Amino acid sequence: MTDPVIQANDLQRHYSVSGGLFKPARTLKAVAGLDFSLSAGKTLAVVGESGCGKSTLARMVAMIEEPTAGSLTLDGKPVLATDWAELRQLVQIVFQDPYGSLNPRQRIGTILQEPLVINRPDMTKADREAKAREMIDLVGLRPEHYDRYPHMFSGGQRQRIAVARALMLDPKVLVLDEPVSALDLSIQSAVLNLLTELQDRLKLAYLFISHDLSVVRHVADDVIVMYLGRAVESGPKSSVFDAPKHPYTKALMSATPRANPEADKVRIKLSGELPSPLSIPKGCAFAPRCWKAKARCAAELPLADAGNHVAACFFPEEAP
Ligand SMILES: Nc1ncnc2c1ncn2[C@@H]1O[C@H](COP(=O)(O)OP(=O)(O)OP(=O)(O)O)[C@@H](O)[C@H]1O
Ligand SMILES: [Mg+2]
Repeated sequence: MTDPVIQANDLQRHYSVSGGLFKPARTLKAVAGLDFSLSAGKTLAVVGESGCGKSTLARMVAMIEEPTAGSLTLDGKPVLATDWAELRQLVQIVFQDPYGSLNPRQRIGTILQEPLVINRPDMTKADREAKAREMIDLVGLRPEHYDRYPHMFSGGQRQRIAVARALMLDPKVLVLDEPVSALDLSIQSAVLNLLTELQDRLKLAYLFISHDLSVVRHVADDVIVMYLGRAVESGPKSSVFDAPKHPYTKALMSATPRANPEADKVRIKLSGELPSPLSIPKGCAFAPRCWKAKARCAAELPLADAGNHVAACFFPEEAP
């Protein structure tokens, strides 16, 4: 097995949020302790409801924000103890919004060359231009697109440009934060296919964030299901989809029938709202919404055992 390009142990990110006038600030644990690894050529997908900490995780792995606690290594080097600027070139991020992420006043050629202008003083103008043209071709755009402005492109094309820009520094890891969620269904699969092709060709590792299980089923090798900053279940895609162990995973799956056509058709309706991350329930955070919860679940935090496919639950689902 190859060494992982990303390794996270008990990775955490906390925010201090104002408690209001004359009240002390409170700590919000957006990511409360995650363990995972990701190897070259593989896709780790992270799913979970809005607010569970997916983008916070994405920003940490993309080195936009520092972890508050725990460890994160990139290409074998701990991010907190290594030259940040150098390491940062190894991991690039693509965001959801293909409209907001490109400077409207710059031509595509300029947008693509920007990371090189900043990070590669050794490259000549001609080298940079050649590299930008090569990327335009690689992501399935046409040579004449080099001189156009972002508003002249469709959402899917803009996302191709964002991917091209992310690849300009030859990263090893792409963090994809809901990369197709803003696109029409028909365009989604074209962009997903492009990502798969690029991964095969360049041996890229993907941290793929999505709330859409049917997209995750299409792209993932491994899956982490997050709930309020923690992983409630993780494992190889096929095993998590075919035999979900955590009641939360089961509920998510039942809400997306096209993600799992073979699963039993009983729709599990989650009662209650996602609790505030400022007051995460003691014990299992999912217990207040779980139909299987018993007294123990509210008192003790269930931890996932070590293994290939694990769930943090005292009363996991039986394999079908
Ligand atoms: N800079 C910040 N300061 C304070 N709280 C924050 C900050 N960034 C995120 N949070 C909080 O952290 C929690 C997780 O947010 P995050 O954006 O990571 O969720 P998400 O899973 O990406 O949600 P979505 O699916 O809506 O994108 C939320 O409660 C959010 O309000
Ligand atoms: Mg998000």
